[in-house]
Amino acid sequence: MRLFIISNRLPLKASKTGNNTFEFTRSEGGLATGLGSLDMEIEKHWIGWPGVHTETDQEKEIITEHLSKFNFHPVFLSPEQIENYYEGYSNSTLWPLCHYFYSYIHYKNIYWEYYKQVNEIFNQVSALHIQPGDIVWVQDYQLMLLPQMLRNAVKKISIGYFHHIPFPSYELFRVLPERDELLNGLMGADLIAFHTHDYMRHFVSAAERVLDLRFKLDQVQIGNRTIFVDAFPMGINYDLYHDAILEPEVQAKADELKKMYGNHKLILSVDRLDYSKGILHRIKGFELFLENHPEFKEKVSLAMIIVPSRDNVKSYADLKSKIDKLIGAINGKYSTINWTPVYYFYHSFDFNELVAMYNIADIALVTPLRDGMNLVAKEYLAAKRDSPGVLILSEMAGAAIELTESIIVNPNDLEQIEKAILDALQMPEQEQLKNMKLMQQKISRQTVNKWANDFVNELETIRNQNVAFNKK
Ligand code: G6P
Repeated sequence: MRLFIISNRLPLKASKTGNNTFEFTRSEGGLATGLGSLDMEIEKHWIGWPGVHTETDQEKEIITEHLSKFNFHPVFLSPEQIENYYEGYSNSTLWPLCHYFYSYIHYKNIYWEYYKQVNEIFNQVSALHIQPGDIVWVQDYQLMLLPQMLRNAVKKISIGYFHHIPFPSYELFRVLPERDELLNGLMGADLIAFHTHDYMRHFVSAAERVLDLRFKLDQVQIGNRTIFVDAFPMGINYDLYHDAILEPEVQAKADELKKMYGNHKLILSVDRLDYSKGILHRIKGFELFLENHPEFKEKVSLAMIIVPSRDNVKSYADLKSKIDKLIGAINGKYSTINWTPVYYFYHSFDFNELVAMYNIADIALVTPLRDGMNLVAKEYLAAKRDSPGVLILSEMAGAAIELTESIIVNPNDLEQIEKAILDALQMPEQEQLKNMKLMQQKISRQTVNKWANDFVNELETIRNQNVAFNKK
């Protein structure tokens, strides 16, 4: 038995370095980093887009050959396909819809046409590799039509689907003209899963109303198939982050950073550049804090790591210039010769640098306006190891359900952000350590491996039940 993970992006990203030469680096984003570190006993394959445009068959062959060493199988997409399926339907229609950004939703027929076309291409590439008996795990909103396509293309396979972003309430989901097609696409899976019970509840209610189905608790019967729905909160590779500071290189980096930031307190935030992450609200909340608490002048800084993302989508490019402006204005107003209030990094950090930053940060400020889960919050807690630290977390992140010992804020309320920063700065060390331990215990149990194993085990149980059912 083999496991096939299918996602829009592969965990490795190719970039062109010259004539027929490519460099391969880790992909960014929750899904690729989370699933990329999976360590399972089962033979694992991965199908997805390698993140690069190829001009010739020879280039495709070079990339295919390199990736095949890892059992990765590329799906090559043209610039028009990326523009309309990825930047278009996935990230200008479904993404704002699922994150409740109604006014950011763009509809174009061509987006939908390409979304169908690219899901079909994923289907065709997958069908070349997948055989009866395999387990197939489709990931996320870019591929919602794929489960049903695969169900028709390859017989006797188990299909699971995981939705990594929020599933919105029916009242919002119903605005999509293609609501029926998308839900029918998902119904090709045996198991459809979400990070939280709330997302699952929204999905069930949308499926009941749009497709006129009747669920019995977590399952629904369609023909001779039973489809199950469940919630699995995704975790991180806990040991990787928890043990990182034991590496001399990381410790040296952390010492160097500590020296650089002087002895003032450091607040850290790390996100992909995305309007759902609440970056502008967060900066304004910090500004309010500076304005109302001059006693902290030269004593606290905010370091923002913002990873470039989807910069061809207009709403993302617009946000970038607003962030630049706002940070420029705050630094212009408050900086002194000895102090920069906001450090701004618009690029990704390599792993050692990132964990060193997590480790030395006194506070992590994680305030998305909506977030399916948010793994940064968990990475911060793990990387602190035995040191004190405070997590300020948005109640709109899926992670808030598990991380109840953090300071929970409504990210829309700038005064709450301001107050949370003050409370975090004044929290006694004993209390910080106590909360940290409690949250570390939870996330060390609910790791990404456990998440994946739980999902695949449930899929196997369902398969066994269905085999039994079909034999009757
Ligand atoms: C979110 C989505 C993932 C995606 C990630 C990065 O976390 O749920 O599916 O991998 O964003 O997005 P990108 O568009 O850069 O692949």
